[in-house]
Amino acid sequence: MALVGGLDVTHVGTPSFSPYREGIQRSVRKLDARNGVWAVSPRTGNPKRWSVSDIILFCIVSSMQNCFIPPPTTVGCTPMEADAFPTTDESVEEIAPAELKRRIDDGEDVTILDTRATGEFEEWHIDGDTVDVVNVPYFEFIDDVDEDLLSEVPRGDPLVVLCAKGGASEYVAGVLQQDGRDVAHLESGMNGWASVYEAVEVERYDGPGTVIQYQRPSSGCLGYMVVDGGEAAVVDPLQAFTDRYLDDAAEMGAELTYAFDTHIHADHISGVRALDEEGVTGVIPEASVERGVTYADDVETAADGDVFEVGDAEVETVFTPGHTSGMTSYLVGDSLLTTGDGLFIESVARPDLEEGDAGAPDAARQLYESLQERVLRLDDDVLVGGAHFSDAAVPAEDGTYTASIGELVATMDALSVDEDEFVDLVLADMPPRPANYEDIIATNLGQRDTDEEEAFTLELGPNNCAASQESMAND
Ligand SMILES: [Fe+2]
Repeated sequence: MALVGGLDVTHVGTPSFSPYREGIQRSVRKLDARNGVWAVSPRTGNPKRWSVSDIILFCIVSSMQNCFIPPPTTVGCTPMEADAFPTTDESVEEIAPAELKRRIDDGEDVTILDTRATGEFEEWHIDGDTVDVVNVPYFEFIDDVDEDLLSEVPRGDPLVVLCAKGGASEYVAGVLQQDGRDVAHLESGMNGWASVYEAVEVERYDGPGTVIQYQRPSSGCLGYMVVDGGEAAVVDPLQAFTDRYLDDAAEMGAELTYAFDTHIHADHISGVRALDEEGVTGVIPEASVERGVTYADDVETAADGDVFEVGDAEVETVFTPGHTSGMTSYLVGDSLLTTGDGLFIESVARPDLEEGDAGAPDAARQLYESLQERVLRLDDDVLVGGAHFSDAAVPAEDGTYTASIGELVATMDALSVDEDEFVDLVLADMPPRPANYEDIIATNLGQRDTDEEEAFTLELGPNNCAASQESMAND
């Protein structure tokens, strides 16, 4: 039902407008394929084929709003629910996100048809050295699947079709299978991809116990768990994986005792509070409280030099401001420094997410001092593990995104230049800020209520916490 001013206009156009309807719909479809937002139905907010009444309603609303066309990121094409999609009679093979990840990691040739709106595709998509990915929005397949359209679709062995939630991809894969193509569709789409969270042991860690690195390929997020003597601690946990940490610790015969945050994150919802509610001791940097943390009394704070014990492994607090005013690293077992977003194996931090462009130069100077006076003073063999990795990062032999301080100094010029040159380097090439970073920061400060579903959605997309998307390590 389409309502304008309470009037039901659903059937207004149908009988008399039919000869034009096809033409209007085709032109609108072409429009949305290019722009990806015009196809948002004013009634449901979901992308769908526009009826004439939708177009009338849109014209009325737009004229009232002076042709207000909101930018794609705010409206976003909230995909139809997966099960609301038309289906074909085809039963299509489904591929699990973890299996797709394995094929990419093993260097297999993977061909992907990404059927999300072009704006979403450009913001973030699955990629890799052996991945061939093409974007054709699913609306193109709703009807009139002609040779021109099929010629845009690559062949794969199989062709992996994906969308945001797994509904559209099953439909499109069905249409292509009817055309004799070898296809499979990605289970739960990009939401499924965002649920891939791998645990890899840091083999070069030589302190007490074991350390694993958590890797989220969809956003490049990294976290750590140290386990020793029946106790465990996690650093930079994601709220989306709260149960995972508890389960993994239990599986390793340990009780999760601490959950540390290195800083107030801008790209993901921290899991520290959720774990604290599960009986784990949440720990945040003392210096971040003054940014307006509302739950400081419920958790512990870590000041420079504070030591926390996990079995025989000591977790020592090392204050390293720059990325944020509260940025804090943790030296685990005298062997691994979890540097948060201060230092990555392929780049250094961006200094503009807390105080914006105006505060970035001073923050960059603070970062320089933290790196030179605190991080690089540690032993060359100490491993560095950041909170993110980008496509430019080259993992170590054990598959983790870690590198020793000696290796980083040898390969990353930014660590050997003087302060002024460093500041210029850091400010020169900063990527777009993480999507939704203000809402995410507000949530992590405790100033915004964000439920789990919204939290998951806010985090989708690239992280962009580094000063550059290109590698600063000339390895
Ligand atoms: Fe960050």
